[in-house]
Amino acid sequence: MPEASRLDRYLSTRLPGYVPGTLSPETVAFAAALDAVGRELPEIADAIVQELADQRRTLKLIASENFASPAVLLAMGNWLSDKYAEGSPGHRFYAGCDNVDAIESRAAELARTLFGAVHAYVQPHSGIDANLVAFWAVLTARVENPALERLGAKTVGELSAEDWETLRRALGDQKMMGMALDSGGHLTHGFRPNVSGKLFRYCSYGVDPETCRLDYDEVRRRAREERPLLIVAGYSSYPRRVDFRRFREIADEVGAVLMVDMAHFAGLVAGTRLHRRRGSRGPCAHRHHDHAQDALRGSARRARALRRVARRDRRPRLPARARRPAAARDGREGGGVARGRTTRLPRLRATHRRQRADARRGARRLAARRS
Ligand SMILES: Cc1ncc(COP(=O)(O)O)c(C=O)c1O
Repeated sequence: MPEASRLDRYLSTRLPGYVPGTLSPETVAFAAALDAVGRELPEIADAIVQELADQRRTLKLIASENFASPAVLLAMGNWLSDKYAEGSPGHRFYAGCDNVDAIESRAAELARTLFGAVHAYVQPHSGIDANLVAFWAVLTARVENPALERLGAKTVGELSAEDWETLRRALGDQKMMGMALDSGGHLTHGFRPNVSGKLFRYCSYGVDPETCRLDYDEVRRRAREERPLLIVAGYSSYPRRVDFRRFREIADEVGAVLMVDMAHFAGLVAGTRLHRRRGSRGPCAHRHHDHAQDALRGSARRARALRRVARRDRRPRLPARARRPAAARDGREGGGVARGRTTRLPRLRATHRRQRADARRGARRLAARRS
């Protein structure tokens, strides 16, 4: 006989005649949570209820939004919010992080399986955050670590004021090349209003004005001209397949690190619909990027899971230190919240099948209404 759920056990002791399994745990959980919130701040509970009503009534066409499962939503609202978990699993700055360690390790394991990746780092809370962590990993590997080695120091704390100032300036004097905003790029790819534009000197490539497609010869010409430290591929608004092999060749030719921001198509990669052969290992299987980051969203069914996937390559281009799963230090030292690391990874292939079927049904209905 299956074990009674926590809810059934509780209700059986409180409600004479209660028949186990007759109540929806999700409905009970959300109703109880809203009552608890509403007791403190009724207007917040009302707004949450209104959001549910709005989501049920309207069609979302915003790629950055999600439909999180009840399990994900409930895993986000609990005592893990109380935790302070700076560092990484097994390497925390404070005691008492065993449960967070278990969750973070499991989330990273699920992400590795989902993307066929060797490493996954699940701490960033958003795509912006994840990009920043990836940028910092590149700066650490390409600028900071070589400088420390040259100066015979293990950490930046050991540097003299003068050496530190030189290194600080060098860190802020690197060039990033990304797609122009008006061609479909994203603010986090080096634009002035975003911190990435303040961190890097920026140069851009665009799309061909006639075809609106990437012109790889032009990207190559720009890369040879500008010699950036970092080339970013993967965009907010480019509804075409990207030839990452060409980007890899271009990055290799100019000695740049290639980063793929797959925020908008990560779900399709995970579901092996895009840039990955079914059953293959290795991030996106194309194995052409040094770093990939994604906010699993849009095409993914439910979870919003953030991860940075380190590249698996037989010919390592970054020093081993930089290819570690962002290690205990990701450049954001000083705090680490546990909330949001919990994630339920979706069964994407089935989801994609259902989404395509839904889309076909919707199209048929629209066509029938028109005729
Ligand atoms: C390509 C790309 N990268 C990063 C982001 C930022 O993601 P987030 O909104 O999760 O911070 C976006 C936002 O949609 C995006 O389009």
